Amino acid sequence: MMNNIFRIFTKKLLIFLLMFVGNAFAAGESDFPPNYYDLVAVVLLLIVIAAFLGLIYFENRKEPEGKKQVSLFAKLGYLLNRSVPLEKEEEILFDHEYDGIKELDSKIPPWFTGLFWVTILFAIYYMVNFHVLNTGKLMYEEYDEEMQVAAIKKAELMNSGALLTEETVTRLTDDISLIAGNEIYDANCVACHAPDGGGLVGPNFTDEYWIHGGGIKNIFKTIKYGVPSKGMISWQTQLNPAQIQQVASYIMSLQGTTPVSPKEPQGEIWVDTDENTTNENDINL
Ligand code: HEC
Repeated sequence: MMNNIFRIFTKKLLIFLLMFVGNAFAAGESDFPPNYYDLVAVVLLLIVIAAFLGLIYFENRKEPEGKKQVSLFAKLGYLLNRSVPLEKEEEILFDHEYDGIKELDSKIPPWFTGLFWVTILFAIYYMVNFHVLNTGKLMYEEYDEEMQVAAIKKAELMNSGALLTEETVTRLTDDISLIAGNEIYDANCVACHAPDGGGLVGPNFTDEYWIHGGGIKNIFKTIKYGVPSKGMISWQTQLNPAQIQQVASYIMSLQGTTPVSPKEPQGEIWVDTDENTTNENDINL
């Protein structure tokens, strides 16, 4: 009878467990591999459940008749609990009785005292580690450290230009960026747009006319994705976003210059509306 209940209970528990663990991993597809703390939690839970199952199993196991053998489990139980067996409770019964309620003079179970000692030892370790030797990192120190690491990562990201898109890009006007843009232009674009931007196969950059829109955002976009059907390739595989920003800013600086043989205007006159024209405006990118 007990064994049957035990078996049914185990099955139910196993099914529940599988569902739980499955869920824990399925839920966080975005944060795979699973968080370290999630793993610890699952393992702890498994241990608790295994211990619980063990407890039920051993409690229900029939002691062989005749032999007065004490199981290892019972010994362990006694070691941890020091509980007085039922038949000897008389010995530790207090004299008083209130409306039939009696009280036993039970000892504090050793596991509890042990736990108490552990907390004291931990407190000492904690105190010495975090406040005397200062070898451990307090929460705000960890926080500061993480913030510093994040700041470095952010700076790296900004420098790599990965955050630069046609939505966020701004026109650069400093000499260093324009010189860098000029070099990129000379190396990649002169064949079709002429060294002075006057235009050859590609359109003239010195006039106010743009086929795909002027302004840094449109120009960035045209360079990034290109117009493959019209002979202007996409440059995003060869130039990183920062380089595209530089060359686009350089192209914009050509406006109003006089090329040797300007190509006739193509597209429409572009009027800047809400463009950022200087880099300084753009601190809160
Ligand atoms: C193989 C020739 C070729 C090369 C190389 C080339 N382009 Fe172009 N580009 C074109 C053509 C052709 C167009 C016109 C596309 C159209 O008609 O839609 C164009 C258009 C553009 C436009 C849009 C102009 C407008 O009026 O809207 C920009 C900006 C541009 N190119 C920038 C660049 C930059 C920057 C480079 C170098 C990194 C470059 N191009 C290299 C052929 C080229």
